[in-house]
Amino acid sequence: MKFKYLLKGIVKSIPGIEYIYNFHRKTGGTNNARYCYSVWLRHLMMAHENGINSLPVKIAELGPGDSLGIGLAALISGAEKYYALDIVRYSNVACNLKIFDELVTLFKNRTPIPLEAEFPNIRPALTNYDFPKQIFTEEYLKIILDENRLQKIRNSIKAMDVPDDSGKERMLYYRVPWNDVRVIERESVDMIISQAVLQHIDDLEVTYQAMNEWLKKEGLISHSIDLKSMGSSDSWDGHWSYSDMEWRLVKGRKNYLINREPYSTHIKYLHDHGFKILCDKKSRAVSTMKNEAQLAKKFKTMSGEDRTISGTFIQAIKQYFVSLSLVVEEFGNFIPAF
Ligand SMILES: C[S@@+](CC[C@H](N)C(=O)[O-])C[C@H]1O[C@@H](n2cnc3c(N)ncnc32)[C@H](O)[C@@H]1O
Repeated sequence: MKFKYLLKGIVKSIPGIEYIYNFHRKTGGTNNARYCYSVWLRHLMMAHENGINSLPVKIAELGPGDSLGIGLAALISGAEKYYALDIVRYSNVACNLKIFDELVTLFKNRTPIPLEAEFPNIRPALTNYDFPKQIFTEEYLKIILDENRLQKIRNSIKAMDVPDDSGKERMLYYRVPWNDVRVIERESVDMIISQAVLQHIDDLEVTYQAMNEWLKKEGLISHSIDLKSMGSSDSWDGHWSYSDMEWRLVKGRKNYLINREPYSTHIKYLHDHGFKILCDKKSRAVSTMKNEAQLAKKFKTMSGEDRTISGTFIQAIKQYFVSLSLVVEEFGNFIPAF
C-alpha cells in the first residue's frame, strides 16, 4: 500500500519539480466565506463555553490558507488587529475582498452557523448552531457593522501586500513566510487561532514557544488539529508506518506536509510552554495497525491512546511566560529556526 505513495514521492523529489508543478496552489476551505464564518464562530462559541466572555481585540492566526476569511470574520466581530502568519502565500487582495463582503452579509443576516452536513470536516461540533445572539447583541452589531468601520477593514485588505515599514498602525498584517518570533510583539495578542494547521508545522515546539511569547497573560489559544494521514496513506494512521527516509520521499520537495506528531506531543508542549488547558475535545478512530511491527521505529513507543486519537480541538490559556533562554537551557543545543 505504501508503494503508491513512495512512487509519487519519488516524482515529487525530482530537483526542479517545484518549478513545473505547483504543490501549493490552494488549500481548500477558506476560499469559501461560509466555511470561514463557520470556523470562526465555532472557535468563538467554544471560548464562551469555556468562560472567555470578552471578544478578542488583537488576534493572530497560523496558516490561514486560501483566504484570510477566518481572521476577517474576527475583525468584523470587533477585533482591531489581525496577524495572519503562513509559509505559503495562498491569499490575495481580490479574493479577500470578495470573502470579506460575503462575510459581512452573513453577519448582517444573522445567519445561523453552517451545520455539519455542509462542512462535515470542521471540528468541533456544536450543540447549538443558531446565530449567537448572546455574543452579538443588536446594539453591538450596530457598532461593529457600521459602514465606516467596515470600510476601514476593506482598506486594510487593499493594503495587505504593501510593505508595512511606514510605522503606521494597520488592522491587518499578512506575514509570509514568517520565520522570526518578532513578527508579533511580545505579550500583545488576546487570541491565537488555527484550523487544521498545527499538524503541518515542522518547528512545532518553537511555535508553541512563540505562541507563549505573543500572548498576553490569560490570552487564549484555540486550535483544531487533524492528526490523520492527510492523503499520505490509504489508512487514517498510515503516516506512522513510514521510516524517516521513506517519509522524506513521500514529502518530496513540498514546503510542508504533516509533522506526524501524535496527540501527546501537543499536550506535552502545552504543559512545557505555560498553558492551562480549558478544553480538549478528542476525535477517536480505530487503529488500523494490527501490531507494533507495523509502526515505524520512532513510533513504536506511542501509547495505545495516541494510536487512536485522530484529532482534537484544544483551547488553553497562557498561565505564565516561559523565557526562550529556559527552553535553550533545557534542550541544550536546541536553536529555534528563527
Ligand atoms: C490544511 S491548510 C489549512 C488552511 C486553513 N486554516 C483552513 O482551515 O482551510 C494548512 C495551512 O497551514 C499552513 N502552514 C504550514 N506550515 C506552517 C507554519 N510553519 N506556519 C504557519 N502556517 C503553516 C499552510 O501553508 C496552509 O495554509
